[in-house]
Amino acid sequence: MEIIVAVDENYGIGKDGDLLAHLSPDLKRLKAMTVGNIIVMGSKTYMSFPKRPLSDRQNLVITHSPEKYPEVTCFTSVEDFLKYADTADKPIFVLGGETVYRQLLPYCSKAHVTKILHSFEADTYFPNLDESTEWERSNEGEVIDTEKYPFKYVEYIRK
Ligand SMILES: NC(=O)c1ccc[n+]([C@@H]2O[C@H](COP(=O)([O-])OP(=O)(O)OC[C@H]3O[C@@H](n4cnc5c(N)ncnc54)[C@H](OP(=O)(O)O)[C@@H]3O)[C@@H](O)[C@H]2O)c1
Repeated sequence: MEIIVAVDENYGIGKDGDLLAHLSPDLKRLKAMTVGNIIVMGSKTYMSFPKRPLSDRQNLVITHSPEKYPEVTCFTSVEDFLKYADTADKPIFVLGGETVYRQLLPYCSKAHVTKILHSFEADTYFPNLDESTEWERSNEGEVIDTEKYPFKYVEYIRK
């Protein structure tokens, strides 16, 4: 399983149920990485999408209230999701938000982190992998400066 996340300089990821910034190349990259595959997310992240489910990929939602999301496959616990993940025949990407990242990080081998070089007000966060003894940087891209905020792609792998 792999994680995809966009963080700001303080590892903030969201505010009031939305992303901190909508960076078009980053969202396109997320689509390219996930189309044809499986994505898993918490109900709050799922509900934050203007159009849902996300097209051309299998959307899995973790929630205590699966009856609210009849159009997607839901799991009422991380344990149930992990049992399903063991049998999946396609790559699974964890799409957040904070609660789901924290619960599924131990089961992930790679993290694709978009680092936005800006400091936002945030109410949800991702763990700082640079401070973790379990993760190391495996790749770091150049700064991309075509959008409102500069950003770069950094990849981490589990040691
Ligand atoms: N920057 C990024 O890359 C990125 C990516 C994704 C999200 N975000 C942002 O992150 C924020 C949302 O994060 P969040 O942590 O508040 O919410 P979240 O993780 O998206 O969803 C939380 C919900 O997931 C369900 N859930 C989580 N763990 C569960 C478990 N063990 N068993 C059953 N259900 C479980 C619960 O749903 P029910 O309440 O339905 O039971 C819970 O309320 C938003 O601002 C979003 O825009 C940012």
